[in-house]
Amino acid sequence: MMIPEDKVEEVKAATDVVDVVSDYVRLKKAGSNFKGLCPFHNEKTPSFNVNPSMGIYKCFGCGEGGDAISFLMKVEGLGFTETVRLLAEKAGIELPEEGAQDPHADEKESVLHALRFAARWYFEQLTRTDTGKQRGLAYFEGRGLSAETIKKFGLGFAPDQWDGLLKAAEAAQIKPEILDAAGLVLPNKSSDGFHDRFRERAMFPILSHVGKVLGFGGRVLPDSAPPTGDYVPPKYINSPETRVYHKSRVLYGLFQGKQAIRGEEEVILVEGYTDVISLHQADVENVVASSGTALTPEQVKALGRYAKRVLLLYDADSAGAAAALRGIDLILREGLAAYVVALPEGSDPDSFVQQFGGEAFRNYLQKNRQSFVHFKVATARRAGTLGTPEGQAEAARSVLESIAQIPDTVAQDGYIRVAAEQLGVPDIHLRVQFRDLVKGGRRSTPVPPPREAPPPDEGLPTPVTIAMRPEEGALIRLMLEHGRPMVEHVLGHMGLDEFSEGPVRQIVEQVLEQYQTGQIDREAFIGGAFGPAVQQIATGVLMDRHAVSKNWQKLAGIGVPELNGEPYDAAASAMMLLKLDRVEEAIALIIRKTYAAEQAGDDLTDLQRQMQDLQHLKAQIERREFLAWGQEAPAENEA
Ligand code: UTP
Ligand code: MN
Repeated sequence: MMIPEDKVEEVKAATDVVDVVSDYVRLKKAGSNFKGLCPFHNEKTPSFNVNPSMGIYKCFGCGEGGDAISFLMKVEGLGFTETVRLLAEKAGIELPEEGAQDPHADEKESVLHALRFAARWYFEQLTRTDTGKQRGLAYFEGRGLSAETIKKFGLGFAPDQWDGLLKAAEAAQIKPEILDAAGLVLPNKSSDGFHDRFRERAMFPILSHVGKVLGFGGRVLPDSAPPTGDYVPPKYINSPETRVYHKSRVLYGLFQGKQAIRGEEEVILVEGYTDVISLHQADVENVVASSGTALTPEQVKALGRYAKRVLLLYDADSAGAAAALRGIDLILREGLAAYVVALPEGSDPDSFVQQFGGEAFRNYLQKNRQSFVHFKVATARRAGTLGTPEGQAEAARSVLESIAQIPDTVAQDGYIRVAAEQLGVPDIHLRVQFRDLVKGGRRSTPVPPPREAPPPDEGLPTPVTIAMRPEEGALIRLMLEHGRPMVEHVLGHMGLDEFSEGPVRQIVEQVLEQYQTGQIDREAFIGGAFGPAVQQIATGVLMDRHAVSKNWQKLAGIGVPELNGEPYDAAASAMMLLKLDRVEEAIALIIRKTYAAEQAGDDLTDLQRQMQDLQHLKAQIERREFLAWGQEAPAENEA
């Protein structure tokens, strides 16, 4: 079902493009714009711009551009309707429920709907039922969690029933098949039908970075009946992979923590759900957990949109150090700095903050954090291998292999110096070794392949270059910004055929068509209503105001009024330059023809007359006489 136009408008108005893009790109303020690394192509220096007042983004590297909606569509691979729904939810705008629609988009939506329903239901069981209060709430409170924290993380209680959720969902018109697709129920073994997957458990909803419920972790309760026979129930039962829950991409706590992570530019990586939650309650909010799986490249990429540094916490008394070692290279490869902190023996972040508080926790991290270089050298030292030349060489190699993952060569250089200092060897030795390592193309320990296929990337644009003169860009921009009177001014003095063929002329044609039927709807151009090429041009010219006028000044060698200062003058200058370009082209052609005619001994009179006409026309254009030539409204479509 289509979303009514006025609702779409309402959602657009309530949506901040910087806010939306910030979920994917680390943005830095640059004048009135924001800048960052483009999510649509690989780059090291930022050419991706966001302009909050116009509500647009534009990458001058690959050409991609549009508004908040088209950004989310591209980056998430969603359809228009789904995207508007997502933004509406974020903005708290109610949309009419969807009826029958595209069955494909429908299932994903239905699964998300079922998951959201389940999260609410588990929360209600926890807070509104006697058993829920006695068992679930008592458990969470016993762990020191406040009502506020419970609400913030949407914690819940799954009662000891085979069909509690099934029945509630049925009453809400959610089919068992959808619950199955959502991973909330399991098929019965010896009969038809399904039963609840989560029974008698404390429930932790797992949210996407925009707050959609994707799945759950369900923890066994300590006061459950003791296991019968050999069967020991697992401490946590987790949702399976579904069409919405991809474990390798999700980080527990990112939704609640992203603001703080962005603010501190640093994220703390812990192991458990309860660690994330307790830290939040202690006002340490820049924290996520990879929820029971080893850290994946996709997860690190997700973190890179918010943070510059990752702080890995690990247990001193477990395989934690090994896990930290594996995480380091993944983090470095994404261009993030990697730090590690060992927790005091026998404590995890949850027990630490419950005992000592958030302030003590922060101080502990501050005192004990080590860069990955320090950590690797210290690990070797503790293992006693640094004493021998071989052991030292091995430690050096391990450190250098990590350094080789870092994309930035300046950072590499800095770390080599640190490594030399830590290992107590002259850094020239390490540099030689490093060069051999990089030259030999030996990469460090191979990264485990992602557990599942990476997100499809057919949505990624192929960079296109659109031939457009700067003056054309300026004129398009002026018409989009100033609407009808400017269109009259420009197209009253320019023919369509004076604009470059292809998407540039196409956009001018669209402007003219809108002029003929009403107002100029800039949003339609930005939003992609006239296709991607037109969208790229529109966003480009609207964003790149300075580049246009500077370029133009250089080209023309004359003073050009600032685009913002005197728009009608600016348009006249642009028209003049464009017309001059065309005349120059014609003059160049005559020169070539004259040369050929001379070679052939032909009569030159005709060519000479044409040349005189062109020179005359050129002088007239330079005097801007064309402005007086046709002062009517723009001509009817003359293409
Ligand atoms: P922990 O055993 O440290 O759990 O496992 P925890 O979250 O700290 O829970 P408490 O404090 O004992 O109540 C760390 C993480 O590993 C995953 C969960 O994501 C858990 O948060 N895990 C653990 C599982 O998925 N299944 C399990 O059986 C155990
Ligand atoms: Mn724990």
